[in-house]
Amino acid sequence: MSYTIKNVAVAGAGGNLGKVVTPTLVSSGKFNVRVLTRQGSSTAGLPEGVEVVEVDYSSPASLQAALAGQDAVVSLITTAAAMTQLALIDAAIAAGVRRFVPSEFGSNLANPKTRASPVFKDKVATEDYLVEKAQTTNLTYTFFYNNAFLDWALRANFIVDFTQPNPQVLDCGDQPFSATTMQSVADGLVGVLRHPAETENRAVYVHDLVTSQNRLLALARQVRPDRTWAPESVALDDLVAVAEQRMARGIFDFETIGPFLKRAIADPECGGVFTGRVDNELLGVKGRRTISSWSC
Ligand SMILES: NC(=O)c1ccc[n+]([C@@H]2O[C@H](COP(=O)([O-])OP(=O)(O)OC[C@H]3O[C@@H](n4cnc5c(N)ncnc54)[C@H](OP(=O)(O)O)[C@@H]3O)[C@@H](O)[C@H]2O)c1
Repeated sequence: MSYTIKNVAVAGAGGNLGKVVTPTLVSSGKFNVRVLTRQGSSTAGLPEGVEVVEVDYSSPASLQAALAGQDAVVSLITTAAAMTQLALIDAAIAAGVRRFVPSEFGSNLANPKTRASPVFKDKVATEDYLVEKAQTTNLTYTFFYNNAFLDWALRANFIVDFTQPNPQVLDCGDQPFSATTMQSVADGLVGVLRHPAETENRAVYVHDLVTSQNRLLALARQVRPDRTWAPESVALDDLVAVAEQRMARGIFDFETIGPFLKRAIADPECGGVFTGRVDNELLGVKGRRTISSWSC
């Protein structure tokens, strides 16, 4: 059955991604945007005219009331609270919402090796829950995969630590991976909501370019030729092994999570190169430049 999406509820609108997605949804002029936020959260910076509704994620009634009249939910909720989305999905079904886009926006969870990673356990559980509910209710879903956030990862010195003279590169540093700016994720989300039939009950793949750590380092050398750039190679397997030991000891901080994320992004077996399957054209994502050859 065909349907259009006009009323869009956004959860987690004030976060890293939400600050880009929310204004983009509003400025597209295609949607009425309602922001769901927890009591006491800051709403500073939200675009003017956006409706803000406070919700209590532990109250089904609060969530259902907040979703009344909405056609879609875009969840941008922080990873640590991913399981909160199960209540949001239940409320969406009860309120008659048609599309749910869970908070993913990263690695290719359709890849078996990535799907088995312990850091994606809650995201996978959310996907499984949506797939199950889509079989028995009117709720549909779209999973959004964009691999690494290019801008966020560069600012956070996550892919390459530009503050160091000896930044770490994984193995040879030449492994290609897809990367996407948060603006392109936002543009792609507009595309998903404008194409509900084509994006129903499936994953969409979006990227701006395929790059590598060495390619990014080459750009850094061009920008700062005055600095020392002497990358040090580390084996990705060794990094992950240390992270596994930390996890076994119950330590679940970013030092533990980071190597698993790096594996999902750049390990050639983890499906982090999207060339050949991207939905950029359908979703109106322009993309940038691709490097076509690599060797390791
Ligand atoms: N691919 C990548 O490289 C990459 C990088 C970063 C993030 N991501 C993904 O992008 C998505 C959004 O991440 P983000 O960094 O934008 O998130 P974030 O800034 O950490 O948080 C987003 C929002 O989550 C809400 N929130 C926080 N704690 C909550 C709780 N206990 N219950 C319910 N809501 C809660 C808050 O909204 P309110 O206070 O308004 O309720 C917050 O503004 C995640 O799925 C993340 O994994 C991907």
